[in-house]
Amino acid sequence: MNQPFRIRPADSEDTLIIGEILVETWRATFRGIIDDAYLDGMSEDDQAIRHARRMQAGGVFYQAGVDADGLIGFANYGPARHPVPPGIMELYALYIRPAAQGTGLGKALVKAVASDCLARGANGLFAWVLAENANRGFYEHIGATVAAQGRVRVGRQDHEQLAYLWEDLPQLIAL
Ligand SMILES: CC(C)(COP(=O)(O)OP(=O)(O)OC[C@H]1O[C@@H](n2cnc3c(N)ncnc32)[C@H](O)[C@@H]1OP(=O)(O)O)[C@@H](O)C(=O)NCCC(=O)NCCS
Repeated sequence: MNQPFRIRPADSEDTLIIGEILVETWRATFRGIIDDAYLDGMSEDDQAIRHARRMQAGGVFYQAGVDADGLIGFANYGPARHPVPPGIMELYALYIRPAAQGTGLGKALVKAVASDCLARGANGLFAWVLAENANRGFYEHIGATVAAQGRVRVGRQDHEQLAYLWEDLPQLIAL
């Protein structure tokens, strides 16, 4: 069966929609986890500017999921922001528009990210996930295991976060 989307690298023309997807998905996913004031104060334009700057600065890579109407999800990744063994890259963000979730795009994006990381010489990939985010079951479902724990401040509260690691990129790509 043909998938209802395709994956391509995202570029600076995508940043407005990336800002929209990010805010819409955060509010849908983290309501009741992250404080309302933080979620309600998020701005699509601010997020678009933040990602435009990141793209311009280089060293952070983006993949987009696109359907007939345009961009419906994205992932970004690059060097790990915490000390990790050499050769391990970090998936910083993965957000699929709520209406497009559950169609295989999340998995396809992680596989596309893993392929690109492998091509860049990496041998592993990890992502920080809030422990309260039930979607961490998605990372477990596609083979990641918890490798570290930490705390992160978002808005007014500290949250527990878990680092999910894929140690075998070819195995992930083959899923
Ligand atoms: C989590 C997210 C990236 C998953 O993407 P998706 O497109 O909805 O998921 P997919 O359709 O690709 O699912 C792939 C597989 O994972 C499984 N899966 C999806 N979400 C899951 C979950 N929350 N828990 C357990 N398994 C899950 C699916 O059943 C599917 O299984 P299959 O391949 O055996 O049929 C997406 O729902 C999302 O953006 N959520 C909000 C933001 C978020 O939480 N981001 C990531 C932090 S973990």
